[in-house]
Amino acid sequence: MTFPGDFLWGAATAAFQIEGGAQARDASIWDTFCRTPGKVHAGDTGDVAADHLRLWREDVRLMAELGLKAYRFSISWPRVLSGGLGFYDRLVDELLAHGIEPCPTLYHWDLPQELEDRGGWPERETAHAFARYAAQVSDALADRVSWWTTLNEPWCSAFLGYASGVHAPGRTSPADSLRAAHHLNLAHGLAVGALPSSARVGIALNPSAVRALTDSPADLDARRRIDALANRVFTGPLLHGSYPEDLLTDTAALSDWSFVRPGDEALIHQPLGFLGVNYYTPALVSAATAATDPAAPRSDGHGSTSHSPWPGADSVVFHQPPGERTDMGWSIDSSGLHDLLMRFTREAPGLPLLVTENGAAFAPDLHDPPRIAYLEAHLSAIHRALRDGAPVGGYFLWSLLDNFEWSYGYSKRFGIVHVDYGTQVRTPRSSARWYAHLARTGLLRSGG
Ligand code: FCB
Repeated sequence: MTFPGDFLWGAATAAFQIEGGAQARDASIWDTFCRTPGKVHAGDTGDVAADHLRLWREDVRLMAELGLKAYRFSISWPRVLSGGLGFYDRLVDELLAHGIEPCPTLYHWDLPQELEDRGGWPERETAHAFARYAAQVSDALADRVSWWTTLNEPWCSAFLGYASGVHAPGRTSPADSLRAAHHLNLAHGLAVGALPSSARVGIALNPSAVRALTDSPADLDARRRIDALANRVFTGPLLHGSYPEDLLTDTAALSDWSFVRPGDEALIHQPLGFLGVNYYTPALVSAATAATDPAAPRSDGHGSTSHSPWPGADSVVFHQPPGERTDMGWSIDSSGLHDLLMRFTREAPGLPLLVTENGAAFAPDLHDPPRIAYLEAHLSAIHRALRDGAPVGGYFLWSLLDNFEWSYGYSKRFGIVHVDYGTQVRTPRSSARWYAHLARTGLLRSGG
């Protein structure tokens, strides 16, 4: 299987997950969350992480050795607030000097704590603060950066952060999570306006490839509900300029959505340079039946908690699909990625697509055939989507380095490069060599 010659072969990381250097910047909601007992595995923090703030030159050299054409990293809003844009300025120069396209994401979950103290994403003012921050970053970097991502996975920020509470800031208010989702959408729209119109500006969603357990009307309705809460709450305003009616009806008992002001949806509906798709695993849902045990552990892959990240969808049950799983317990099924790429190709004809994250956690071993098999399956699915007409322009493997995996701390390893957290020594795994070959040649050997 051959990929197009101009396909962007990249890897992705995020500031809080790799940088460290926490004393040199303002606090973020993740610093606070890490220090809240019981929230993060083993009490792990982002204080040092993969020490990238110190080792960034070595990391860029490593990317160049792996033949990467692009690097998706995130900019730490709290670091910029404390005057730290110089780091990103130097990083961008270093990437360009190595022939690597810098692809920054403005927000990968590390809200400045001071903004959370003033209400966080449920407050409209946070979207305006984000637009000011976007303009500041743009002033510093837009002369050299042409690919921008506004937000990473706003679903997680809104619903894991404010409804289920498994992510920072750890609130458990379904009504707040809906407000947060809207203000994140608004933040995206305002940020697009703050970046140069010549730039390619997109957003990275984690759309759910959601399937119904059976084709009974009740199960199909469960799928519709989750599709609204996982996908259309974002793609509605982003791609079509309005929130879906069924979403407003499903959540009417929690919110009247009066926080959506006239003109907001048009503001969110900006021309997009690309749509970023982060994909790991599909979802399988059904309607609850009389036999459903309400106390049964959740199986939607988003952590164990008694609070649901799905406002107004208590009647939906998530099932663990059969088959192999990664170390996260996420089932491996690359067809979900093909389905999503084809869905967006139909829904937004001509809109360029980027796979902005895909990858898997497995054992720490340097020899990692399960990761290679995972990547190979998902890249085959992308190749199939390309053949079927999806305008996919690039792939960003999650992740370049082992890193801080949110509430799982350092217990889950997604890197194609192993990090020894004691010494910070980086060692490429077999998957890194496999990926380097692919990035150099564009040739995917199937069944290998
Ligand atoms: C995504 C996040 C990323 C990483 C992967 C495994 O949801 O965007 O930071 O944690 O999952």
